[in-house]
Amino acid sequence: MRSIGESRTIAVTVNGRRHEQEVGTRVTLADFLRHGLGLTGTHVGCEHGVCGACTVLFDGRSVRSCLMLAVQADGHEITTVEGIAPGPGALHPLQEAFRDHHGLQCGFCTPGLLTTLLEFLPDNPDPTEEDVRVAISGNLCRCTGYNSIVAAALDAAQRLRGKEPAA
Ligand code: FES
Ligand code: FES
Repeated sequence: MRSIGESRTIAVTVNGRRHEQEVGTRVTLADFLRHGLGLTGTHVGCEHGVCGACTVLFDGRSVRSCLMLAVQADGHEITTVEGIAPGPGALHPLQEAFRDHHGLQCGFCTPGLLTTLLEFLPDNPDPTEEDVRVAISGNLCRCTGYNSIVAAALDAAQRLRGKEPAA
């Protein structure tokens, strides 16, 4: 990871694992996750807060990791898309719903959508279609036309409420 100028040692917990690492003070959180920790599931599209591809959870709340510095994460907990699944070979209900509803094509936007919805659904366990569209309005997808993503999110909400998946 290339950095210019000063560096600092930070301690950050990512997907439940603590990392203590020296990082340049100008390195973004997105670049630290991707290049410092090798967690390339967090994607970088616009690099100025518009596309949502770099969304991760910061102490449980969604943030644009391209708009934060890695040093700001010192002492905090991050969840990336790699930390969503409950275990090896298993998928989170949200991931299952995306798979079942073809909620992705190229997959570039998917990590950001999953982390956005991972924050949204517990706060809104029975959302309307409109609620979902508003929730994901900061996540750009160039492939799907969004309908399959919305269907996946609504189905995931149902699964998380403990009901049978929609047919
Ligand atoms: S890369 Fe961060 S919002 Fe687009
Ligand atoms: S699936 Fe390709 S950008 Fe969304």
